[in-house]
Amino acid sequence: MKASALLLLFAVANAKHEQYQGWKSYFVKPSNRVQLEVLGSVVQNYGVDFLSNPAVERNGLALVKPELHEEFIKLLEDHGIAYKLHAEDVKAQLDIDDKLFETRRRESSGKKNERIPFDYYPELEEINEYLEYVAEQYPNLVTIVYPGYTFEGRELKYLKISTTNFEDEDKPIILIDGGFFGRDWITSATVLFAIYNLTQTDMLHDYDWILLPVVNPDGYKYSFTNDRFWIKTRSTDQHLFSTLCPGVNANRNFNFFWNTLDTSYTPCADNYAGNKPLSERETFVLRFSLDEFIPRIVLYISMHSYGSLILYPWGNDGSLSNHAFALQSVGVAMADTIYANSLPDFPRYIVGNSVLVTGIKTSGTAVDYAHKLGTPLSFNLELPGIGEGTEGFHLDPKYIEQVAKETWAGIVVGARRAAELFGRT
Ligand SMILES: *[C@@H]1O[C@H](CO)[C@@H](O)[C@H](O)[C@H]1NC(C)=O
Repeated sequence: MKASALLLLFAVANAKHEQYQGWKSYFVKPSNRVQLEVLGSVVQNYGVDFLSNPAVERNGLALVKPELHEEFIKLLEDHGIAYKLHAEDVKAQLDIDDKLFETRRRESSGKKNERIPFDYYPELEEINEYLEYVAEQYPNLVTIVYPGYTFEGRELKYLKISTTNFEDEDKPIILIDGGFFGRDWITSATVLFAIYNLTQTDMLHDYDWILLPVVNPDGYKYSFTNDRFWIKTRSTDQHLFSTLCPGVNANRNFNFFWNTLDTSYTPCADNYAGNKPLSERETFVLRFSLDEFIPRIVLYISMHSYGSLILYPWGNDGSLSNHAFALQSVGVAMADTIYANSLPDFPRYIVGNSVLVTGIKTSGTAVDYAHKLGTPLSFNLELPGIGEGTEGFHLDPKYIEQVAKETWAGIVVGARRAAELFGRT
């Protein structure tokens, strides 16, 4: 009985990640802008998935399906782009990753006094429990808001943290989110750390905070249960073929040059933009629940993973906005602080306009949209990821706390600079 249960467990465990059988992953390192733009175009033309976008002289990590190996390598070689095999067998590497995550979870020091681990990746349910706990524990400081439901019926939620219940109109607001893409687990953990810190220290009471650890709960859940590399929502009402290929790329779904660049009309693509702007409940709710706060939001940080990049608008054409100087200088201030608190294991952050740094033009992103609505400092933070070795696809959980702490240190500096530059007092 026991043996057969074990066997069954084993079979189930190994059935995971089947869809990545035969896939390979490669580090690619462009040495100039022409090569960078060639790599940008393979996303569009071949559907190669970059877990980390390359920059000039900075590795990207490409996930390549079996039928594209040859073509992809030929393209790299034709353009003289440096590359190195990362995982010979993506499914096998994902199985190894799973074992590591289980070990880290087993060896976790427990949820400590504050009930949230920063030494393994929490499940969606654990995140939700923590948010409820914080709201109960600190009723004078923390309000939990439930603005609606996901496509699959999960509660959407965010926290408002304020010593004055958001009633002081002169206080600048800082908005931070993570978990736009299901697979970006480290981003949700990093927002949770910000929440944890804000409840422990009394240094940041000059601002009001809005924190969304998981913008896309359905996608987060699905990346744990079914597809480790899932990024989209899970909606099936967008397209005739949406039941076959559910989901929309939430970070292509906003009303800023919507569906014009780096998007696809087929719902099976990862960059499917939906059938209209804000088609997704997740993005619609984010947009409209924030409406009343927009005039006071001085800093918006949307976290993604990975690449150690701080990117700012405009993402559609690489032109600079009226706030370009502030964006660059506050971005550099955050990057310097993160660097001062970082480990040698991680590369130094690159700061710049998103098109100039990544070579990719995008449309419908949250950061551009927020900037257009009037948020002067609007950043996309690509958190640090794996190095050049044979590590797995997600950062080893032993680094979660480090990444969360150094990022938070950067955010604190960003908040101060934002308030100095754009606050009312
Ligand atoms: C909160 O963040 C600040 C700034 O990074 C840091 O100095 C402090 O130690 C943190 N507190 C906790 C409890 O982690």
